[in-house]
Amino acid sequence: MNVTLSEARRRKAHLYLVGGPVRDLMLNRRSEDLDLVTEGDTEALAMGVAQAVGSKAVLHRQFRTATVKCEGARLDLAMARKETYARPGALPTVTAGTIEEDLERRDFTINAMALGLAGRQEGRLLDPSGGLTDLTEGVVRILHRGSFEDDPTRIFRAIRYEQRLGFRLESGTLSQLSDALSAGMLAAVSPDRLRNELQLILAEDVPVRTLLRAGELGVLHGLYAPLGQADWLRELDEEAEPLTLFAALAFRMSQMEGQGFIARLNMPTEWAEVVTGMVQLSSDAPRLKDPMLSPSGAFRTLESCPIASINAFMLLTPSVVMRERLAHYSESQRFVQPLLRGGDLLALGVPQGPQMGEILRRIQDARLEGEVTTLEEERALVLRCLADLQA
Ligand code: CTP
Repeated sequence: MNVTLSEARRRKAHLYLVGGPVRDLMLNRRSEDLDLVTEGDTEALAMGVAQAVGSKAVLHRQFRTATVKCEGARLDLAMARKETYARPGALPTVTAGTIEEDLERRDFTINAMALGLAGRQEGRLLDPSGGLTDLTEGVVRILHRGSFEDDPTRIFRAIRYEQRLGFRLESGTLSQLSDALSAGMLAAVSPDRLRNELQLILAEDVPVRTLLRAGELGVLHGLYAPLGQADWLRELDEEAEPLTLFAALAFRMSQMEGQGFIARLNMPTEWAEVVTGMVQLSSDAPRLKDPMLSPSGAFRTLESCPIASINAFMLLTPSVVMRERLAHYSESQRFVQPLLRGGDLLALGVPQGPQMGEILRRIQDARLEGEVTTLEEERALVLRCLADLQA
């Protein structure tokens, strides 16, 4: 940071700390990133800083931003800009602007403050929209009426800040958010951008609260109608793993709904498998609720299902039998392995090939049923299996 400051001063550049870090500084909260904006030649300043620290600047010309990484630290530098949106949900068209214009194009008053670090506004807090007052009063307020239309992902952002900071949505902001939802603005947002917003929610400290609020305001319904209000998420506690929480969204989805959800967010394989796992558990539920199902039968039903889906279903199902079964699988059954390995089976005379896998499964089933517990018992079972084979 010191290098950046002295480089900016040497070049007589106008440098500002903006957005999240200013908000967090005022709230005395830790900020993850250091967002800097400069009026003028961003690339030259970034390259100057990189040279001074013996690193390289990565320039993102399309967005007029630059990144310099050095010894684990990361500096993001952006050109002060004006933005126009071709249509709702589209990425903005960017042109050079002043810091004042840059602040005007931002999402919420609490994110539209800048601190002059070098140049014409050094030492000043720029707060043209009353961000500091809103921070003090705990309010998330949109900057202008068309803001959610310009960028409907701000709908998610509003809820994230509200829940993260324990703030409330200002009434005008709330009604514009509802209007944007009723106008179907989320339909214009690409699957990748929607997925990114969901990912950001899941990365919050207490994502379940944010998702419940999104459900209550109709945001989840706007994202994908079968999610409805997702009020079943109330069953989850605040410590639920992010992937388990994500899985919980797909609770009770039919196969078609699950596929629609995967497509709506263009999900990567891991997420898609979790959704498919939830759909599968719904269809396996009658079997898993049956008290007569054997331990190995339960294991074989569950073994190809992602653990996040199993954990989510366990927290959500009203069936005690199924809940206990899933808990047992999650906590212990899934770790049950034969003590004997393939090499041991070879030594006992089992030929290589599919029979070996079959016998290993039989040992595993016997362990699950409590029929074998020791190495000796496993060996005896292998010999019995061999005898069966030869009979
Ligand atoms: N911003 C915006 N509209 C968006 C995304 C971002 O106006 N759709 C602006 C906000 O001023 C925001 C800044 O860009 O403060 C940086 O965005 P981001 O890094 O996503 O947010 P932070 O404010 O840094 O907050 P967080 O702590 O969530 O990272």
